[in-house]
Amino acid sequence: MCGIIGYIGEQKAIPLLLHGLKSLEYRGYDSAGTAVIENGQLQVQKAKGKICVLEEKIAGNFGQAKVGIAHTRWATHGRPSDENSHPHMDCHKEIAVVHNGIIENYLQIKEELEQKGHVFVSDTDTEVIPHLLEEYYEGNLLQAMEKATKKMRGSYAIVAICVKEPDVLVAARKDNPLIIGLGDNENFFASDIPAIINSTRNILILQDGELAAIYQDRVDVYANGQKVKKEIVRIDWDAEASKKGGYAHFMLKEIHEQPWALNQTLQGRIEEEHGKVYFHDFSMSKEEAQRIHKIAVVACGTAYHAGLVAKYAIEKLLRIPVEVDIASEFRYRDPMVDQNTLLVVVSQSGETADTLAALREGKKKGARVVAITNVLGSSISREADDIIYTWAGPEIAVASTKAYLTQLMAVYLLTLYLGDLLDKIDLPTRQKMMEAIYRLPHQVEEILQNLVPELQQLAKRFAQKNDIFYLGRGMDYAVVLEGALKMKEISYIRAEAYAAGELKHGTLALIEEDVPILALATQMDVYEKMISNIKEVKARGAYVVGFTYEGNTDLTKTVDHVVYLPQTDDLLAPILSVVPLQLLSYYTAIERGCDVDQPRNLAKSVTVE
Ligand code: AGP
Repeated sequence: MCGIIGYIGEQKAIPLLLHGLKSLEYRGYDSAGTAVIENGQLQVQKAKGKICVLEEKIAGNFGQAKVGIAHTRWATHGRPSDENSHPHMDCHKEIAVVHNGIIENYLQIKEELEQKGHVFVSDTDTEVIPHLLEEYYEGNLLQAMEKATKKMRGSYAIVAICVKEPDVLVAARKDNPLIIGLGDNENFFASDIPAIINSTRNILILQDGELAAIYQDRVDVYANGQKVKKEIVRIDWDAEASKKGGYAHFMLKEIHEQPWALNQTLQGRIEEEHGKVYFHDFSMSKEEAQRIHKIAVVACGTAYHAGLVAKYAIEKLLRIPVEVDIASEFRYRDPMVDQNTLLVVVSQSGETADTLAALREGKKKGARVVAITNVLGSSISREADDIIYTWAGPEIAVASTKAYLTQLMAVYLLTLYLGDLLDKIDLPTRQKMMEAIYRLPHQVEEILQNLVPELQQLAKRFAQKNDIFYLGRGMDYAVVLEGALKMKEISYIRAEAYAAGELKHGTLALIEEDVPILALATQMDVYEKMISNIKEVKARGAYVVGFTYEGNTDLTKTVDHVVYLPQTDDLLAPILSVVPLQLLSYYTAIERGCDVDQPRNLAKSVTVE
């Protein structure tokens, strides 16, 4: 995930910028760069790799510059390389820009600018920004920025400098965080608090649509062309907390990043006019789509659970048979895949050995392979025929959370994409789904804001137990498998998930007085069946927490406690219903004093068989 820092003040800029970049290293990146104004010229240094490579290039030549910008890049458009690293510059090397986010209409802007004679040197979407600023510049960088933001679609936190105005840094924000750090005769821009916390604890938080100009001794923020007064926020994090964005653990941070991450997966993939899905790295002809007789989904762990959701969604909407396999099983069972099979491999890291081997097995048999992955340039992304990146940003906690939600989002987008190609989804259904999809990030935010105290209370109760059971039907079954895995891996409680209708075929024997049961009831076609299954365990004395949509108040008659979720289309419910299960696992593990981010015996990336 990219990181930004900008500085203007009395101190040497380069050491401060490098220090700021280092405190953003935890976010993950693949290149870094700085740009400062010295003697009326831009001095730019960029390097692929770690910040130490950039430092080697700079070789202690910090100069006297007191104004500059810097960036760590996590590649999206264009591979990691020196050229693609930020800052990017205009044709005359007078304006330099760093950017987080994605400019969705960059190809169109680039074409227009090229026709006007602008020359581009990178593959990035970001490079259109300095050229746009150059195009609009009439002696005022802030005004040029305002015009540029009107031209760009997508998401951005941008900071720019210009040699003609060495006393100011200018910024714009939309859907990507950007703050201003207020110092004593110095000011900062930063994408994250850790970048500036050593210099100041007083910040202003920019809102979407705002523009800002910072000077050594003054800060101006504008919204809709008018100056606005911002409230100063005082940050009191300690150094360790600041790495985790103020959260106690990476897992909690990543859970809270989920609304943002869902937007990342979505953005740039929905055509504005008709709401159709498209992908940059993946396109299929109608004929190719028609040749698909079967879809095989292969993955491990949490990614496998995302595959199970894919089966329900694809079979329901497209009526194409879907087989879901655990990768380590798939590769050794001589799977029945051929050139009429679309093999979907799902892997956050893109490095999981079993999933990679399954991909190779499928390819050998002639299947076309689409990878859903989070890591650009990973082995799986290199070997797959097509890639759908989830763009969730680096996931550091061993327990996967935001990767899962974004895998689900990618699965839904793939389903809609194939549905359009095959004319399998009628317009009203697609429109209804698209509207519901757009609401999801906000609804996840609602859950995060509203449910924590209630889940913390439940966690206190569950932390005392040795066993927890999870029940669900249909898609809810796929979700409880993920919920139980989360509980197991970080709290070490034996948590088992069952298809609710299957209980009476054996597991019911384990249910006794006060055994905790988490029961999902979001699939309305089996809602009544689910209620009957809950009654079966209630009759044996279980303590049942039900999860259903707001409004389904009748569930209170059957269970001990109801957790309410925002209303959505049943097919999309997994994106919402898993969030309280993640939080419950997290708070239960905390109650038990477990090492949440690095649970015993587990590794983040499993590159061995
Ligand atoms: C989930 O919390 C796990 N850490 C694990 O199951 C993980 O999902 C699995 O190892 C697959 O990893 P991948 O997505 O990187 O391939």
